Parts: sequence; structure tokens; C-alpha cells
Amino acid sequence: MDFDLKAYVAEKRKIIDEALDRYLPPVGGMEGRVVEAARYSLFAGGKRLRPILSIAAHEACGGSSKALLPVACALEMIHTYSLIHDDLPAMDNDDFRRGKPTNHKVFGEAVAILAGDLLLTYAFELMAEHALEDKSGSVIRAIYVIAKASGLRGMVGGQMIDLVCEGQEVDLATVEYMHARKTGALITASVQVGAILSGTSESQIEQMGRYGRHLGLAFQITDDLLDITGSLQEMGKTPGSDIRKGKRTYPLLVGIEESKRMAKEHVKSALSAISDYDEKADPLRAIAKYVLERSK
Ligand code: IPE
Ligand code: IPE
Ligand code: MG
Ligand code: MG
Ligand code: MG
Repeated sequence: MDFDLKAYVAEKRKIIDEALDRYLPPVGGMEGRVVEAARYSLFAGGKRLRPILSIAAHEACGGSSKALLPVACALEMIHTYSLIHDDLPAMDNDDFRRGKPTNHKVFGEAVAILAGDLLLTYAFELMAEHALEDKSGSVIRAIYVIAKASGLRGMVGGQMIDLVCEGQEVDLATVEYMHARKTGALITASVQVGAILSGTSESQIEQMGRYGRHLGLAFQITDDLLDITGSLQEMGKTPGSDIRKGKRTYPLLVGIEESKRMAKEHVKSALSAISDYDEKADPLRAIAKYVLERSK
């Protein structure tokens, strides 16, 4: 199998970046600074993993929905909001993100908070606009899945557990639970909504969900590892942040080698969840393998 993931990602990223630029309002008016701040983080150079996953899952299920691109972009807006808030002094207190000074370092905390709020609410506005035109009901279902994954039962809940666990003695099951929610939930939702918008069967949506859950865990375990082994230059964020904040991570609990083994196991499980799919799922397969090798 010689699927070219690099070319695939470059092609999708271009489509996503152009759409994000189109969807987001231009900078202007008395409120212009907050739009500028939102655009600053959105276009700072993220990997676009979540929208790419939505597109790849959609293609794997044979979909061609015109709501896919706005929904995929909404996921990136929600993700970017979560990063802006995650970096705030009251949260992880980080100075670099996506290779640039963090949002609050440039725009101040008040504007950074509002820029996050803007991206979160705008994401739902954008999706709702498309739901109004969709008679199948799949866009509204996608919104439900994304809302759940972003909120208390997903990312917000996970971020809260992350804060509560700082410096505490916790077991691996707790860290897995935290990772599944703070990072896994939105990644899972990204894959699921790609499937949902294609109008595929419930069993395929479930298979995609299983792929996403394992991928999400592998992704955050690797993120924990990169905090120890990565560099500012490659990752665009400062390593050592977890140790400084007393974060509970996989390498802290089980060591580097065991963490790597566990991430590999999750990728194996992700691949087996989509083993029934034909070559249209090759991008999803390549992304799963990439997660283990990534250095940013
Ligand atoms: C970083 O996500 C935060 C986590 C959930 C681990 P990414 O590693 O996808 O960050 P970007 O979007 O490429 O900046
Ligand atoms: C963040 O996890 C997960 C989010 C929901 C933003 P981290 O705090 O480990 O992410 P990084 O390392 O700052 O990107
Ligand atoms: Mg954090
Ligand atoms: Mg952080
Ligand atoms: Mg991290």
C-alpha cells in the first residue's frame, strides 16, 4: 500500500484553510480586535487533524454532503477555541502555540477569552445555518454529537478532570478517562460526523466511533510523550509544560516505553475497527499510523 498521506493532507488542508477564511467574518468595526485574535490562532498553522478526519471518514463511507466542509471547519474552530483557553494563565499557562506566542500573550487575557468564545459560538452558528437547509436531519444529528463531545460529557469535562488531577495521586484508569474526554471525544466526534453526514448505516457509524476512540487515546498519549521528547521548534509549543504543572500523563504513570506500547495498541485497535472498509478508508489507516510517528 503506498498511499501518499502527505499529499492527501496538503490537498485537504488547502480546502479547509480557504473555507475557514471564507466562513470567518473579516476584521472590522469596534469589535475587530476579537476577530483578529480568533484569526491569529486559527491561521497560526495547526495540523487540521479533526477536519481532515471528518473528510476522510466521509469519503470512506462514500458520502458527498455539502454540509461536510462547514461542519469540518466548525470542528477546527471548536478545537482552536479549546487551545486558546487551555493556554491561558489560569489553565496551562503556556507561552507558545502553533509556533507563535499564545493568544493571550499577544492580545491579552480578556480578548483571548472572547476570541475563544467567538470561535465556539460561531462554529455552532455555522453548522445551524446548514442544518436549516438540510431535510435529512443528519446535520442536526452532527451538531448534537459535536455539542456533546465539546461540553461537559466530553472536552470541557475532561479539561476539568485534568485540572482536578494536577499534582494528585491518580491511577491509569483515571488518566485514560481524562484523555478520552479532553481529547478523545472531539476526535471521535470528528470521525463520527463524517460518517453521519454520508447517510451511512448505524453499524458503520459505530465502527467509525470505535476507530475514533482508539485514535483519540493514541493521539493524547503521543501528546504526553512529545511533552517530554519533543522540541519547541518542531511542535510549536514548549515541551516540559506537563511536568511544570504537575499534570497526570501516561509517561508519568507508566513510563515512556510502556506509553509507546499502549499508543501502538490503540492504533492497532483503531485499524481493526475499520478492517471491513475498502481502499477508500486508506487515508484513515495512514492517519492512524502517522499518529505514532508524529513529531508535532
Ligand atoms: C493539541 O492538538 C491539543 C491536544 C488535544 C493534544 P493538536 O496536536 O491537534 O494541535 P494543532 O491543531 O495541530 O495545533
Ligand atoms: C489539551 O491537552 C486538550 C484540550 C482540550 C485543549 P493538553 O493541555 O495536553 O494540550 P497541549 O499539550 O497544551 O496542546
Ligand atoms: Mg491542558
Ligand atoms: Mg495545554
Ligand atoms: Mg499536552
